[in-house]
Amino acid sequence: MRFTKRIISFYLVNFLKNMLMWLLSGPIVQLRKPTGSGKSAGDTDPDETYTYAQSVFRKYMQQLEVTDPTPFLKGKAVLEIGPGDNLAVAFLFLAHGARQVVCMDRFRLVQDRTKNARLARIVLNSLPEHNREYLQQAVACAGDKEIRLDSYRLQYLCSALETIPLPDASVDLVVSNAVLEHVCNIDKLFQELNRVMKPGSVMVHALDLGPHQLYMETPLDFLTIPEWCWKLMTSCRGAPNRARKSQYEQMVVSNRFKIMTMQITDSFSRREIEGLRTRAPGLCRTLNPEDLSCRGILFAAKKNDT
Ligand SMILES: C[S@@+](CC[C@H](N)C(=O)[O-])C[C@H]1O[C@@H](n2cnc3c(N)ncnc32)[C@H](O)[C@@H]1O
Repeated sequence: MRFTKRIISFYLVNFLKNMLMWLLSGPIVQLRKPTGSGKSAGDTDPDETYTYAQSVFRKYMQQLEVTDPTPFLKGKAVLEIGPGDNLAVAFLFLAHGARQVVCMDRFRLVQDRTKNARLARIVLNSLPEHNREYLQQAVACAGDKEIRLDSYRLQYLCSALETIPLPDASVDLVVSNAVLEHVCNIDKLFQELNRVMKPGSVMVHALDLGPHQLYMETPLDFLTIPEWCWKLMTSCRGAPNRARKSQYEQMVVSNRFKIMTMQITDSFSRREIEGLRTRAPGLCRTLNPEDLSCRGILFAAKKNDT
């Protein structure tokens, strides 16, 4: 009885949350000030945020096998999808010579200019002279709490529904961290990426394929919820789309990208997989073993030259 109650409240609560986001996403984002990182705005320490941004930036460079980012990034136009409320990764791209960084998020999360002013100062203080100069050409700190951004060099666009408001063949590098799994129509996003990216340009994406706390008993049971019901509970909230590794691979290739590297970064435990097998043996038979166990991927892909 308690179990049934828990399941019903799981469905109901998530359905109501989705309805609220559908009706009132603007005011809710204004009120809750989500950071995009899972932490609330008040809990984010700028030094920690910068350390995190550095690790994300390094991850992108390592995946592209770039040892010296400045010559690689010099003059490039970078698109960062889903930065949340944090511009530190964009600052690092600019500091390493990127000509332009366009940040694109589904929600307007950059509201706290004081936080980004602090971050800009930390980034500037930590950089060698030549990188500092690059960043100062795009970002100026004014007093303690304000920054002025060059509106061409660093842009923050708010765009949903997988449409990218950029011209054809205008981007040299696309990056995202923990974002693609939240995109509802991932095939449409890859089509758009193919349109805005220059021939031969590259993209790097890190994905968390876990349930993001949206499960009932065992972490994999989120896969058992029928698609129509999942959509009713999640479509307006940026919850995971539940696509598995092989589906991403298929969509990347069918949208005329070539996968350069693909890494599994996290796996479900044997116990978690057994939990799903007991609950949904039929579903487990339809998934290949890698899709069943894979909980995180990091990949780089190149747009075909022609
Ligand atoms: C888990 S957060 C990751 C934030 C940041 N990249 C990080 O590493 O902390 C996911 C971000 O993706 C954004 N997002 C979700 N769906 C999106 C979409 N379709 N297009 C652009 N951004 C999206 C969310 O608003 C959120 O800021």
